Amino acid sequence: MSDPVSRRGFLKSSVLVAGASAGLPLPTFAIGKKVQIAIACSSNGLPYITEALEKLEKGQDTLDVAVEAVNHVESDPKDMSVGYGGLPNAEGIVELDSCCMHGPTNNAGSVGSLRNIKNPSRVARDVLWHTDHVMLVGEGALRFARMMGHKEENLLTEAARKRWLHWKLSHSQKDDWLEPHEKRPKMKKEKDGKRETGTINFNCCNAKGEVSGVTTTSGLAWKIPGRVGDSPIIGAGLYVDGKIGSAGSTGMGECVIVSCGAHTVVEALRRGMHPKDACLHGVKRAAEMNRMPNRVNKKGRPSFQVNFYAVDVKGQVGGAAIYPTRYAKGDAQGAKLCDSASLYSSW
Ligand code: GLY
Repeated sequence: MSDPVSRRGFLKSSVLVAGASAGLPLPTFAIGKKVQIAIACSSNGLPYITEALEKLEKGQDTLDVAVEAVNHVESDPKDMSVGYGGLPNAEGIVELDSCCMHGPTNNAGSVGSLRNIKNPSRVARDVLWHTDHVMLVGEGALRFARMMGHKEENLLTEAARKRWLHWKLSHSQKDDWLEPHEKRPKMKKEKDGKRETGTINFNCCNAKGEVSGVTTTSGLAWKIPGRVGDSPIIGAGLYVDGKIGSAGSTGMGECVIVSCGAHTVVEALRRGMHPKDACLHGVKRAAEMNRMPNRVNKKGRPSFQVNFYAVDVKGQVGGAAIYPTRYAKGDAQGAKLCDSASLYSSW
């Protein structure tokens, strides 16, 4: 791991917020408080936190910092859950989802089921800054990406194709189709929680208490073509309120969507909760809202994993999940992995 950013640099940049930031109203929580530059993200963001902290320290816009951090993961063929090299849908085609929000303007951009573009988070940011829309999907999103100059390429790596082919030859009980004659059979997945999802969510707060976030994914492996998860849905996979904080999710997207996950976390921050407690509140809601038989294991506990990550406008961070796992954070002490708060100690 790269060197942590120096504590001295951060103490210098942690400021008493006394004036308006970029002509916008000050975050309510930040007035008169010391704001700490901070990052909360999924654990796969850890290697990119130090670089992101340095950029925040230099005054780069929080949204650009977050998008550039996740671009590393999107472009990495070894990460099979995001961007290039991501595991494909049931037809062997990689379809990507991403959204982002910019706290200082509360502006949002999103793309769903985007094919052939390695960095969907950049396309989502283009939707945010260059259109009057929030979300573009499928063919329209691809055409927009072409117009914005994004390069088209085959995203299916040989390693991902081989994994897909293996699934194709052996799947039957591991797909998303429910069995005939039963409304909601228990889905016989590989093992509770072992269905492949993966995503990166990255949330930043700068020394002015400005926050932004981004979420990006190739979604659930072997999904039904056209399936969109929580990652491109504002309020589910990500939500930012520039006066409150930024929160996002990874894990079983459908379960986050029905509980309006990231919005639930930000609303808990608004009520004054610490980010850790707000994330825990989010996972409780996800568990409560997903009680169908295919979402409950033999012990009556959730058969899925959901994780939330949050940073508030004071630079406090937290993470929580249904089952024990870790999240990554960055602050004056540098970058590190921390235990997420969890709802249950075991599956
Ligand atoms: N959370 C990523 C997905 O379910 O697509």
